[in-house]
Amino acid sequence: MAYQVLCNVAPSELVSHMLGESCQVRIWSGPDAGLPSFLPAIEGLLLYGHLRIDGAFMDRLPRLRVISNIGVGVDHIDLDAARQRGIPVGYTPNVLDQTVADMTFALILAVARNLVPGVRHARGPDFLHYEPDFLLGCDVHGATLGIVGLGAIGRQVARRARGFDMAVLYHNRRPNPAAEAELGASYATLPELLSRSDYVTLNVPLTPETAGLIGREQLALMKPTAFLINMARGAVVDQGALVAALEAGGIAGAALDVTEPEPLPRDHPLLSMANVIITPHLGSATWQTRRAMKQMAVDNLKAGLEGRPLVNRVA
Ligand code: DGY
Repeated sequence: MAYQVLCNVAPSELVSHMLGESCQVRIWSGPDAGLPSFLPAIEGLLLYGHLRIDGAFMDRLPRLRVISNIGVGVDHIDLDAARQRGIPVGYTPNVLDQTVADMTFALILAVARNLVPGVRHARGPDFLHYEPDFLLGCDVHGATLGIVGLGAIGRQVARRARGFDMAVLYHNRRPNPAAEAELGASYATLPELLSRSDYVTLNVPLTPETAGLIGREQLALMKPTAFLINMARGAVVDQGALVAALEAGGIAGAALDVTEPEPLPRDHPLLSMANVIITPHLGSATWQTRRAMKQMAVDNLKAGLEGRPLVNRVA
């Protein structure tokens, strides 16, 4: 008998191939799709994206033995509820660190060097001759980068910053002397980091401690010439405060790979601001990394279904 697996999106051919014939996949996009009769038979959950999974939902699945998330951020899963029910939760750490760090730098460079307006201009009817003083950006090399969250991804960001001759500040709950020695980064309190950095990048997980971490007070500490880059989760930033800071010239610009909600309502002010870049949560979106994430998540899922320890377990 094949294991009954629930996916919230139709699995790609690659994932179906990885799952093999030992799993029968049911697709359920979430509560808006009603509560199908197959839910009580489900033994494993394979999540792609951010479908909210809480204890009440777990209770609808009495045979559930494993939750496997294709991604490292698990803020959409109630981990305590899973622990209480003895359901292991798998995730995909490490394989995406470099890719997310690459994208962090892509956004830093794009927002600093007017890449998006530049491409738009180059393709549009107004580009009739070269203008030496048009769309002047800011240097990235030699500037000060503030990394909020020097975890596995933040460390990769710091490594890249060295190649750009940047001074690197970081903020974590606690200083990390080993990482400082390895990366040449200096610990700063959050207010110090915000007030000294030219580029502030958010690389923290979303937790009760980091929700709303960057609000009006914090944005007010940033230099009017500084840029905010959010690679974490939208809810880490108070977006109302961000709009106000951008409108008032309190900061120079923002690049957001994540927003709250995602996507933003189409009339949200952040979508029409000239000094804001928004990408649709592309942090780990490369062929190579997504393949590795899928493989790791399928390995976790199969281990849970077969009663073996998960390769990468978060709860
Ligand atoms: C992650 O891995 O957490 C990405 O943001 C995709 O959810």
